[in-house]
Amino acid sequence: MNSEKVEIFDTTLRDGEQVPGCKLNTEQKLIIAEKLDELGVDVIEAGFPISSPGDFHSVSEISKLVRNAKVCGLTRANQKDIDTAAEALKFAKRPRIHTGIGTSDSHIKYKFNSNREDIIERAVQAVKYAKTYVEDVEFYAEDAGRTDNDYLAKVCEAVIKAGATVLNIPDTTGYCLPEEYGEKIKYLRENVKGIDKAILSCHCHNDLGMATANSIAGAINGARQIECTINGLGERAGNTALEEVVMILKQHTDLKLHTDINSKMLNPMSVLVSDLMGMAVQPNKAIVGANAFAHSSGIHQDGVIKNRETYEIIDPAEVGVNASSIVLTARSGRSALAYRFKHIGFDVTKNELDFLYQEFLKVADSKKEVNNDDLSRIIENVTRKIG
Ligand code: KIV
Ligand code: ZN
Repeated sequence: MNSEKVEIFDTTLRDGEQVPGCKLNTEQKLIIAEKLDELGVDVIEAGFPISSPGDFHSVSEISKLVRNAKVCGLTRANQKDIDTAAEALKFAKRPRIHTGIGTSDSHIKYKFNSNREDIIERAVQAVKYAKTYVEDVEFYAEDAGRTDNDYLAKVCEAVIKAGATVLNIPDTTGYCLPEEYGEKIKYLRENVKGIDKAILSCHCHNDLGMATANSIAGAINGARQIECTINGLGERAGNTALEEVVMILKQHTDLKLHTDINSKMLNPMSVLVSDLMGMAVQPNKAIVGANAFAHSSGIHQDGVIKNRETYEIIDPAEVGVNASSIVLTARSGRSALAYRFKHIGFDVTKNELDFLYQEFLKVADSKKEVNNDDLSRIIENVTRKIG
């Protein structure tokens, strides 16, 4: 089919777990990691090993458990972090160290009280040091979204020379516009010497609601890894949602990009993560929200009953949802009512339906949703009245 693969780097257990109140214990992390491996992600970022003994232990246990995906640990650009990550990853079949440093002027000045040359030197030393432990070293240029492209290209060139295999270009603050982020990836692809030795990776935050759009723009412009989380969990407004990028690439075959994710597991995976993290998914969340395949207005319901494709671009079964639902509300029409009556065993004639519909509206105006019990009661009342 002449389509190129985009690797899926899942960071639910690292960036996703940075959500306040979403802390997971090792046992819960192992459950999620095993399912992520089954889902088909290419990389599992298991944690930030130096951050706490608990996180170290989780990364180590996940390394022992995971069979297919690469297992990755985050570090800052210093030897102690890297030593600790290497130790935590020592049982992994395919270990990756993810090291990096802030590259925007704001990070260089306020976080490091340093200068551009020194930052490049620290980045190079970190990558070289990580390479003494593992072959697969990913470098992140934190706040790359607000780093000027020319300097960012110099950083990328230097770390590729030092042995980085993946270049992560994070829009850490979720500031970029999709066109701007896409241009950044294109600029790096065209201006960094040795870029063919490394994969460019998108890591986008959702502060302005553009994380998914930015990641897709990055992929269109040559990035071949997307970093994301289940349900879009993550710092502040979250990260790119895994289920969204996977389904965008699956639906838009025109992009000629694909992932190896088993999309039928997306909904069960979302429920699992939401339950374990105690973090509800908003009902209107794309792909995995409770309303993602629910139709409540009469016009839409009539269309979907005639042919699902009138209002649905995805077959719900493709993402592990049994079927779309027709929700009966005061905005529903006769066609949805007849459909639901039939579903619960009442095949009504057109005249009966006209009558029943008036009774239905009275009930529907008094509550948010009319359920099957309400419908049975409507039938009973009407039958009694008619005698
Ligand atoms: O958002 C970010 O910049 C990050 C890096 C640490 C990869 O999460
Ligand atoms: Zn992040």
